[in-house]
Amino acid sequence: MEFVQTIQETKNIIKEWEKSGFTIGLVPTMGFLHEGHESLIKKAASENDKVVVSIFVNPIQFGPTEDLDTYPRNLDRDKKVCENAGTNLIFNPAPEEMYFDNAVTSVTVGELTNGLCGSKRPIHFQGVCTVVSKLFNIVTPDKAYFGEKDAQQLAVIKRMVRDLNFDIDIIGCPIVREEDGLAKSSRNTYLSDSERKAALVLNESLKLAKKALENGEVHASKLTHVISEKINSEPLAKIDYIEIVDSIDLKPVCKISSSILVAIAVYIGKTRLIDNFTWNTNDNK
Ligand code: PAJ
Repeated sequence: MEFVQTIQETKNIIKEWEKSGFTIGLVPTMGFLHEGHESLIKKAASENDKVVVSIFVNPIQFGPTEDLDTYPRNLDRDKKVCENAGTNLIFNPAPEEMYFDNAVTSVTVGELTNGLCGSKRPIHFQGVCTVVSKLFNIVTPDKAYFGEKDAQQLAVIKRMVRDLNFDIDIIGCPIVREEDGLAKSSRNTYLSDSERKAALVLNESLKLAKKALENGEVHASKLTHVISEKINSEPLAKIDYIEIVDSIDLKPVCKISSSILVAIAVYIGKTRLIDNFTWNTNDNK
């Protein structure tokens, strides 16, 4: 496995791979890797000749009051996870390597970023789309892998790739959870023991909503009510948002008739966690 910190060196290796006709899979990450990331890398390894994992805590996707400085890092462990999961190259640039001091170009994806996390984190998706575009241009992968855990991010990247004609297949991968149902996240390390228990309320509230859908509920407002009631029963939890949206264009829906995304963000103490599921009415008739 190669460990590279410059753009030029990465491009040189990619050029050699392309000369040999190898297919390339890219897994963009911010490091502190867990089984969620690992599942993406393994999938990439099973579908491509070469796998590149980028590890870069991208400063421009964090708001001024967010956790850029405290975001967890452990490069030594990440290297082992990458190697064991089948990575061929880790790209780990410094912020100065990725961004020119006087850079003035960025990528924005219109209305898909207005709701859900976009409304709470105004510059977030511009930062994500800009860095992912740069990674796509540096690595020129055939396929790139993103988790359904960040459902809005996945939808936004898919739309960006279509709109800007990137010749890259975007592969969505299922949410990996702890045994008790909490979605794996690098930010789970922020939770105290009592908060860790309280965090179960996210997945539990979504399970109640899924049950309501299975029982024929078609009103989004009823689903929102079921979820909020459950979350509000947990004293350490504070709802950031509960949204029921169309899974492709992310516009809010009132009546459930197609494929929907049920997405929530909840503060457990000071830590903001997200979770979601998609529901396809036609699959469940
Ligand atoms: P990060 O939070 O490190 O996540 C990297 C990838 O892992 C994302 O595609 C995310 O959806 C996926 N992932 C995280 N937890 C997961 C889980 N429990 N199950 C399945 N997949 C999971 O997302 C980012 O970094 C950044 O925004 C990035 C795309 C790298 C741009 O900076």
